[in-house]
Amino acid sequence: MPALTEADFFDPKDAQMFKDYLNSELDRNPQIDYYQGTLNGGVSGALTRSIAGLLQMEYAGSHKAAHTNGEAQFRVPVNMRERDVMMVVSPSGRDVNRHIMEMILLADAAKRSSARFNGVTAILTNYAYGRQERQSDGEREPISAAVVAQLLAEVGVDRLITIDLHTDAVTGSIRRPWDKLYATKLLAETVITWGLQNPFVVAPDAGAMKRAKKFGMINNWSYDNLDKIRDQRAEGVVHMQETPRDFTGLDVVIVDDIISTGGTMAGVAKMLKRRGAQTVSLVATHGEFAGCGLELLYGNPAIDRILVTDTIPQPVRLWENLGMNNKIQVVSVAPLIAEAIQRLKTGGSIREM
Ligand code: R5P
Repeated sequence: MPALTEADFFDPKDAQMFKDYLNSELDRNPQIDYYQGTLNGGVSGALTRSIAGLLQMEYAGSHKAAHTNGEAQFRVPVNMRERDVMMVVSPSGRDVNRHIMEMILLADAAKRSSARFNGVTAILTNYAYGRQERQSDGEREPISAAVVAQLLAEVGVDRLITIDLHTDAVTGSIRRPWDKLYATKLLAETVITWGLQNPFVVAPDAGAMKRAKKFGMINNWSYDNLDKIRDQRAEGVVHMQETPRDFTGLDVVIVDDIISTGGTMAGVAKMLKRRGAQTVSLVATHGEFAGCGLELLYGNPAIDRILVTDTIPQPVRLWENLGMNNKIQVVSVAPLIAEAIQRLKTGGSIREM
């Protein structure tokens, strides 16, 4: 089959508009927002606003500016003294490193402005660098996932809240409370509304098995895992190990933590269709869609539906305008985070959520 191009699934005019949108500073990069009340500080505009709305918190703006030389500058216009400060942050996209720097600066501002003792919380909806949580055998690599946490702890973040970490082991890299939230239930409850005839859950690799199992068990669906080989020396190119399993007539739901370049999902979907799957749906918590990730998946005839959350800001309105929402759906983690904050305030258990 010849390689698909944008023209196969978009009017060229829309494709350009789509690209511009994805690339635009404004929409890919979370704004710095600031909240008063118990939910006091945050980054990541739309999501933070929804959380504040659910918790009926007062909302105020913050000032972020970039110096001509590119350095970021913040001003928080409200008094943080003796207040709990919650930063909702989603370092992602091409400016991920800048987002991390902004998050560190904002935490420092909160600490130096006498936020409540033990009251600075970073809610990282997408834990950037989370997949670099160990050194590969024989390679001279940093453990980047640990470095991000250590930087936050160093500037005074007292508590971390994350959603669907690539691996929970990274929480051991700092001696701070670290509450882990999971979007699996939210995603499973959304997928059940699709009314799939013969649902079957698949993990693209052994690492995703626990997630797929949990997802399957919520809806009482069967599950299995496949085998993926990622060639790090060839820029992470993904090879799927051929499965002998027959998927004829099944509505397969592939469950993973993150869609990055889309290579994993595209590879699995193709193999599943070849093995007889009736439909193939992709479900992931974090829709990073790096590079041409979304284009690769949206225009892919092997893929019927894509579901992600808003842990990474998505251009939902644009997708609606382009009629793409027939294939791509976004479910919000705002209620999940709001519930966690509520429990933090009242000393409720987050583990039992
Ligand atoms: C890796 O093990 C993760 O769980 C994902 O499968 C992976 O990061 C997805 O990356 P990509 O979309 O680039 O294949």
